[in-house]
Amino acid sequence: MTRRVCNRPKQLGFLEPNGRYSLARIKGLKGRSISKQKRSDLVKKVFVKSYGCQMNVYDAERMADMLATEGYSETKAMEEADLVILNTCHIREKAAEKVYSELGRVRELKQERQAQGQETRVVVAGCVAQAEGKEILRRAPAVDVVVGPQNYHNLPALLKKSRADRIVDTEFPVEDKFDHLPKPSKAAIRTRGVSAFLTIQEGCDKFCTFCVVPYTRGAEVSRPVAKILDEALRLADAGVRELTLIGQNVNAYHGEGPDGSVWSLGRLLHRLAEVPGIARLRYTTSHPRDMDDELIAAHRDLPAVMPYLHLPVQSGSDRILDVMNRKHTGDEYRRLIERIRKAQPNLALSSDFIVGFPGETDAEFEETMRLISDVGFASSFSFKYSPRPGTPAAEIENQVSEAVKAERLARLQTLLEVQRQAFNRGTVGQSLDVLVEKPGRHPGQMAGKSPYLQAVHFASESHAIGEIVTVRITQAGSNSLLGEWVGSGSQEAA
Ligand code: 5AD
Ligand code: SF4
Repeated sequence: MTRRVCNRPKQLGFLEPNGRYSLARIKGLKGRSISKQKRSDLVKKVFVKSYGCQMNVYDAERMADMLATEGYSETKAMEEADLVILNTCHIREKAAEKVYSELGRVRELKQERQAQGQETRVVVAGCVAQAEGKEILRRAPAVDVVVGPQNYHNLPALLKKSRADRIVDTEFPVEDKFDHLPKPSKAAIRTRGVSAFLTIQEGCDKFCTFCVVPYTRGAEVSRPVAKILDEALRLADAGVRELTLIGQNVNAYHGEGPDGSVWSLGRLLHRLAEVPGIARLRYTTSHPRDMDDELIAAHRDLPAVMPYLHLPVQSGSDRILDVMNRKHTGDEYRRLIERIRKAQPNLALSSDFIVGFPGETDAEFEETMRLISDVGFASSFSFKYSPRPGTPAAEIENQVSEAVKAERLARLQTLLEVQRQAFNRGTVGQSLDVLVEKPGRHPGQMAGKSPYLQAVHFASESHAIGEIVTVRITQAGSNSLLGEWVGSGSQEAA
């Protein structure tokens, strides 16, 4: 694995010393003579809150796996946590500000627990940690450790070191963090369900002018095929049926194959489709420029590759796309979608949109609306442009007012919602394969996902989680579909 080495100096904070576990407590953890009840009281608990994208969800799970080997069990209640980790997102200002307001709450909690003689250690991880580093220690006195997304394998050591001095670790390391992370136990995989994320690529070299990712996550790095395969086999062995391959720019994947040659995402999908037990493959997030022929062919040739694609276009205006540095036009995107739909006629599309990019005129916004009408999206994410410090677009003088952004976003979202509902209604009467994920909302119901990532509920007494069944869709609600079981899943790979 090749990794870019950033020569920024390591940032270290030396601001405030922290509290310690009492000796008795440490003895208790290691002690041999305490009762079972006492022992369970003394197990350390970690609460991890993830913001933003799937990459963060995956990283949060890896952190929990690693801390499990340090004696921490996961809790969903922040109040009972000995260790609170906020795994943060920096993509838009709102996302970053949320972290500081959450840290205010964490500080109160830390004080309350301290008054009861309990210690709470606080870690800020993820992209805000990477981008803001020491500033977090300055603004949030409750924080003990700030750790970037490439460094969280150092967490146990950082937690120890931070007992003397609060600490920041945001250097881009030379070594691969994945080599240092413990593998999750079968039990941990099982509790996370039959659909799992698998990171195959990190970072981005595209430098869209609005985006912080190339700065916070660094240059594109692809994991070697052998390591991905190893992880896929482990997941499948624990009952996982669906893999979502994730990366900031996942279809730029160019990992080292077992034969030493460079493998594309298309080739990797072919290999993963052979893993026994894996019935479904998805990948996200992609860039239109990296949809190569091999990947498009995989949508045609591999039944395991789901007919669903998240392919952000951001804008329909050629001028805005150019200033965004997206390196394609609206028509090139339309033609690309035509090619993918030719390979997979059932394709459901999803996208990201930004409204109010600096200098966007009414006419340019209308071009985005036209592109949406032309292409048709089954689902989507849309945002008001948010200037991010250090990105080129934030320096453009002609920023669009909040009021105009809000008005454009409302119109855009109305159109996208109409399309989403039309897509969902269009599946009524169809028989869709559903991967059963969990019990449904009501007794006697199970819930799962259609190939198009729609939530489906159906009456069932006997279907096990992990099975793929065929469900005839009878009704489309606003956020999920209702259906009835008609048979065992057929179309998908076993
Ligand atoms: N402002 C608004 N939206 C943004 N995104 C990325 N950066 C910004 C920004 N500065 C959106 C893009 C991207 C998605 C993950 O977040 O649409 O595809
Ligand atoms: Fe950001 Fe995606 Fe552009 Fe990379 S391709 S810079 S992650 S928006």
